[in-house]
Parts: sequence; C-alpha cells; structure tokens
Amino acid sequence: PAVLALVSLLGYLLGSIPFGIVITRAFGLGDLRQIGSGNIGATNVLRTGNKPAALATLLLDSGKGAIAVLLARYFLNDPLAEQLAGGFAFLGHLYPVWLKFRGGKGVATFLGTVLALCWPLGLAACGIWLLTAIVTRISSLSALVSAALSVPLALVMGERQLMLLLALLAVLIFWRHRANISRLAQGAEPKIGKKG
Ligand code: G3P
Repeated sequence: PAVLALVSLLGYLLGSIPFGIVITRAFGLGDLRQIGSGNIGATNVLRTGNKPAALATLLLDSGKGAIAVLLARYFLNDPLAEQLAGGFAFLGHLYPVWLKFRGGKGVATFLGTVLALCWPLGLAACGIWLLTAIVTRISSLSALVSAALSVPLALVMGERQLMLLLALLAVLIFWRHRANISRLAQGAEPKIGKKG
C-alpha cells in the first residue's frame, strides 16, 4: 500500500507539469490563460498560431501520462500500480497544485495513459479522436466522442480490467468540458486552429 501511494504521488507530480504554459512561455507566445479558451492544452496553444508549440504540448502532455504508466510497469510490473500512475497523472493535469488546482481538460494525458496501458485500445481512442476531428474540425467534440467510446471499446476488446478507470476518466473529461458542451449545444464551439 505504501508503494502504491508513492506511485500515485509520483504520477500526480508528473501529470501536474503544465507543458502548455511552459512551452507557450518558452516560445514567447504570451500568457496561455489570456488566449482563446484560456485552457492549458495543445488545442489552445494552437490558437497562438504556432503549430510546433502545439505539437510539442500535445506530445509532452500525452507523454507524461504514458511515462507514468511505463515507469510503474518497469519498477513494479503491477497492473494496479500502472492504472494508479496513469490515473493520478491525469488528475495531476486536471488539478495541478502549481496552478492552484486549475489545470486542463486531460485529453492528451488521457490518450497517452491509455496508449501505455493498452496500446491497441489507445490507438483506437486516438483513431476515433482523429476521425471525429477530420469530420467536424472540433477538438472538444472529438475528445468527448473518444473518451465516451473508450469504455465500450475496452469491453469489446476484452480489456474489462480497464473499464472502471476509463469510465472515471471519461466522466472527468466530460465534467471539464462543461463550457465546451454548452458552446457545442449553441453551435458556438470554434473549429480547430480558429481563435473562436
Ligand atoms: O483538449 C482540450 C480540448 O478538448 C478543448 O480545448 O481549448 O477548445 O477548450 P479548448
């Protein structure tokens, strides 16, 4: 139990690094909180017009979820420890102590975590995100569809042991997209790359 608590804490700390803010600042693009939706994720970094900065944010925010899982696997080789590491990295991104617990929406970290926990399922979730994004050009909608479908997908793919975690993460993703959901309902959600 002590080691699981440590894994959770390390996962949280890794996940709480707000790469969007760090990278936007490093690129001299201003204060991400004052741009677009004010969110700290790659979608909002893209609203600065800087594609490499957005891509770096996407890779690092998803990478921190994946690394948390892979570290747990390497050192403990325990499925519960892996899920805790990834789940707490996700929580760290949503509620980082460094930003007074006002973090992001968790989509990239979710995808990275799922990829590391079970790559076929992760690839499927990324594929669903991409397909929805190609059709609708809306990042938040793609995230909601991908997160929601990941749970039944886990069932179909025989990954029942992941369903509880995925359901919790999907609920949190919907919760964090409250403002996006009301904009979607009003047809006012901006397309990818648009300032909105
Ligand atoms: O990854 C977050 C995305 O789903 C929505 O971001 O900035 O459009 O609220 P944003």
